[in-house]
Amino acid sequence: MHAQTVRIPPFRSPAAVREEPALNRDATPRRYLMCAPAHFRVTYSINPWMDPSKPVDLPLANTQWEDLRDRYRSLGHTVELLTPRPDLPDMVFAANGATVIDGRVLGALFAYRERYAEAEAHREWFRADGWTDIHEPAHVNEGEGDFAVTASYLLAGRGFRSSPLSHGEAQEFFGRPVIGLDLVDPRYYHLDTALCVLDDAADEVMYYPGAFSPGSRAVLARLFPDALVAEEADAVALGLNAVSDGRHVLIPQAATGLLDPLRDRGFEPVPMDLGELLKGGGSVKCCTQELRPRPVPREGAV
Ligand code: ARG
Repeated sequence: MHAQTVRIPPFRSPAAVREEPALNRDATPRRYLMCAPAHFRVTYSINPWMDPSKPVDLPLANTQWEDLRDRYRSLGHTVELLTPRPDLPDMVFAANGATVIDGRVLGALFAYRERYAEAEAHREWFRADGWTDIHEPAHVNEGEGDFAVTASYLLAGRGFRSSPLSHGEAQEFFGRPVIGLDLVDPRYYHLDTALCVLDDAADEVMYYPGAFSPGSRAVLARLFPDALVAEEADAVALGLNAVSDGRHVLIPQAATGLLDPLRDRGFEPVPMDLGELLKGGGSVKCCTQELRPRPVPREGAV
């Protein structure tokens, strides 16, 4: 019998780890769909963030949005643009208009009549852009507001907007296992206000437990034991409403408590100021719909 050799890794302080380049994190080029806030207004209130008595600085909203669009492009991503409509003041929140996975488009069906017509505007864009696999939904779903894609699952929020019935519809359409998650705090009325997929080639997420029912929290803890768990201060800054390309995480700038934990995991946080759009109840992710292409068949595969 001989004693087993245990190799002890050299100690590296968290600060030293942060100094290292993000070694294991690879960005993959993405294609996003966005809509300029040319007609953004807060004239009605369908979530607790919206206060029609608070003025919106429209030129500032446009500048902030352009910064986000330009940042995606400078990181090598493609940004497609929807034409904003004057009668649809929430259209800037393009994430809600559809969910696109493997080149298949699940259209949206909005919960509130104020946003109803956005779904058709999205479908028109997809048809004009040549997408053929477009499903018009039977049940209320607010696109990527409530659907989040990880390597293994389609996470699906319910409680405020998307109908639980839309979960079965999405599972059938995409052929991906849907995990239903109950949202319980009206400030986090969409799943993307409470959970962000950090690495969609794996199952790596960050989320704020307080937004979920006890059962859903247990499900998240079971599926994502290594998740980055956010504090309330960052959640109320809408810090979970972030977009990751696998390496860069574009994140609302007020969510400062998430920056070091993201760096410690090898991500590069990119703080963005979307303060004017926050008055509509949305930030980075809400403005960004991801167009996930059909997977390219592996060489030699039949
Ligand atoms: N005012 C919009 C609404 O309440 C904001 C949508 C934000 N979008 C999002 N993906 N969470 O519907």
